[in-house]
Amino acid sequence: MNASLNSWVEEIARLTKPDSVHWCTGSDAENSRLIDEMLTTGDLIKLNPKTHPNCYLHRSHPSDVARVEHLTFVCTRNREDAGPNNIWMDPAEAHRKIDALFEGSMRGRTMYVIPYCMGPIESPYSRCGVEITDSPYVVVNMRIMTRMGDAALKRIEREGKFVKGLHSIGDLDPERRFIMHFPEELFIKSVGSGYGGNALLGKKCHALRIASWQARDEGWLAEHMLIMGIQSPEGQTHYIAGAFPSACGKTNLAMLVPPESMPGWKIWTVGDDICWMQIGKDGQLRAINPEAGYFGVVPGTNRKTNKNAYDMIQRDTIFTNVALTADNQPWWEGMESGTPALDWQGKPYSGKGAAAHPNSRFTVSAKQNPIYSSLAEAPDGVPISAILFGGRRREVAPLVYEARNWTHGVLVGAGMASETTAAAVGQMGVVRRDSMAMKPFCGYNFGDYWQHWLSLEGKTSKLPRIFHVNWFRQDKNGKFMWPGFGENLRVLQWIANRCEGKAGATESPIGFVPAPEDLNLAGVDLDKDTLNTLLSVDVGAWRQEIDAISKYLDEFKDRVPAKLRDEQRTVAGRLG
Ligand code: GDP
Ligand code: PGA
Ligand code: MN
Ligand code: MN
Repeated sequence: MNASLNSWVEEIARLTKPDSVHWCTGSDAENSRLIDEMLTTGDLIKLNPKTHPNCYLHRSHPSDVARVEHLTFVCTRNREDAGPNNIWMDPAEAHRKIDALFEGSMRGRTMYVIPYCMGPIESPYSRCGVEITDSPYVVVNMRIMTRMGDAALKRIEREGKFVKGLHSIGDLDPERRFIMHFPEELFIKSVGSGYGGNALLGKKCHALRIASWQARDEGWLAEHMLIMGIQSPEGQTHYIAGAFPSACGKTNLAMLVPPESMPGWKIWTVGDDICWMQIGKDGQLRAINPEAGYFGVVPGTNRKTNKNAYDMIQRDTIFTNVALTADNQPWWEGMESGTPALDWQGKPYSGKGAAAHPNSRFTVSAKQNPIYSSLAEAPDGVPISAILFGGRRREVAPLVYEARNWTHGVLVGAGMASETTAAAVGQMGVVRRDSMAMKPFCGYNFGDYWQHWLSLEGKTSKLPRIFHVNWFRQDKNGKFMWPGFGENLRVLQWIANRCEGKAGATESPIGFVPAPEDLNLAGVDLDKDTLNTLLSVDVGAWRQEIDAISKYLDEFKDRVPAKLRDEQRTVAGRLG
């Protein structure tokens, strides 16, 4: 047994005073016992076993339904290292403040010790952690989302190094809710929330905030990206990684169902939310998915938008904050049949507003994905041909464009913006800068992060091409102009062909944009004007955009890499 792990667990038990301590093995029996206990306490509700075998509903506290960015802290010795993109607190003060809330917080509860591995157990790219929690809901979710239990503990004992995560649901009072990160100590402390993004510490807290810090030090990347394979009818597969902000289409793109008018194309999912990349021995950027399951947005999922996702969540799935039909089937907005009887809070549904919470989620094992890639668990990952940046932009951003080169691509990512969504508490639909979709997740100063991205160019000549996509352009009536979902494959086909030097494009001041004839649009219902708008670059609007990006870079003062500044001036110059 690892002495430092044991003494840490004892120290936490002294602080939080649980009734008992349970070391999680990850076994089926342990999982069944926890589910039975939660059915008794009401933490879980069993869904209709005829339609949804082994599916459960969890209702979180109504004030605890999304990530809380305003209560998320990065606590570094030097304030500048956290940067203006994070809320900073002095580490000593942060420990004091949050430990006061952990004092006796597990009284009357069981303390669970969860050893977990982010990434395939045998991969040299993987990293381990141990989460201590008093929430059985967290345990059963971590079992789906990570490689949890005995195998992970063995690796931890062998390596001796792990990220520490301490979580307690506390009293769920938003006034006593904090998510704190101590990257210099590889330590996470989260209290007062049971919501996935705040409580499943392997996910956003470890695999993004702490890992991004480690990745900078060790020369790799930890990113908020999906990873997918696109196989052409000729049998050629390209792997693509894509960074879109929360609730902007990662899970759906990663599980895309090709349209009938594109026979022979196949999609393979490697990951849907987080991507760790290293330069492999062959000089290629290689990616693994550190997760083992999906914690996906439920609303909008149906047989037409995404049959793969829909089929996958018919069994062995934990639903959080969806509505219920009269016969205990899960229900959400965008479902094509059934009617909600109870809303996400368990109240009779009045017919007004959303029945399921807009950020309701499913937790499901990746093994249930009908298009799970055979290379998803490959120890040295998959080679990445292209990186996509994207977001929700009702105007300005065209359907797709390609950056001129790596430096320009880093600027495209750094200057990215997107409308806010229900995935985090706060106002929705407001355009904000969200560099590389990492605004809520980068554990250090964005200026240093951009520099880290730029520095990869000196390390290999085989970097992927960089593209920007936008599925969310709207017309005057607020209707999406691009059909999206499966039809996004047309854009991916152009991207794959660009990687092979086979597709045409027109040069614009912001990069290379396809002309209508460069895209395969056979069988898609789209009029000429709409298509022209989707592929046009409004120079006036882009002048404003590049000005806004320039002002945004100013916030990072002397940490902005000179090379990024120069690139921004070059683009401004092209726009005239
Ligand atoms: P993620 O949180 O980034 O993984 O995003 P999801 O794939 O879960 O999608 C979030 C929401 O956007 C869901 O309600 C989807 O139905 C919707 N969505 C995803 N892809 C598209 C698309 O291509 N077009 C449109 N209009 N909506 C989409
Ligand atoms: P998402 O993941 O990116 O699928 O929305 C959860 C989140 O980012 O909060
Ligand atoms: Mn995410
Ligand atoms: Mn997702």
